[in-house]
Amino acid sequence: MFSKILVAIDGSESAKKAFTTSIYLASVSKCRIDVIHVVSCEFGGDSAASLELVEDLKIKANLMLEEYKSDALGKDIHPKFMLEIGDPANMIIEIVNSKDYDLVVLGTRGMSVFKELFLGSVSTKVMHHAKCPVMVVR
Ligand SMILES: Nc1ncnc2c1ncn2[C@@H]1O[C@H](COP(=O)(O)OP(=O)(O)OP(=O)(O)O)[C@@H](O)[C@H]1O
Ligand SMILES: [Mg+2]
Repeated sequence: MFSKILVAIDGSESAKKAFTTSIYLASVSKCRIDVIHVVSCEFGGDSAASLELVEDLKIKANLMLEEYKSDALGKDIHPKFMLEIGDPANMIIEIVNSKDYDLVVLGTRGMSVFKELFLGSVSTKVMHHAKCPVMVVR
């Protein structure tokens, strides 16, 4: 069905659903699955405060990825985990379009507290710019 799936996670409940769905798709397709988390960083990052903040976010992100890893291994799925730094939407788009993914999976919403809109900006931007099919899991 699919040969290589990318799933984007940000620590939200919505992304957790996207992950569960993509694990299921990977197991029925017997295909490779990569998991990406982007530590959001829009500043230059050369001041001590920003570097410390990014390091702190990276440590938290690695802990999150470890949790997801044990979840997947429990289901006998062996994803590759990627931790990137930058603008989440742009980074996901760059990675999905530069490699041979045939599906990218995201949640509808993420960590933002502003929930008036149905879709978050990352899902919206990836839907607009990814060259492969996009699945947004509700
Ligand atoms: N930093 C990130 N790294 C990886 N995936 C992400 C990241 N941020 C969001 N995503 C993916 O995009 C989905 C939708 O999140 P999004 O950020 O668009 O919504 P939001 O946080 O509710 O709103 P917004 O960020 O636009 O204020 C998440 O469920 C997740 O799959
Ligand atoms: Mg967000």
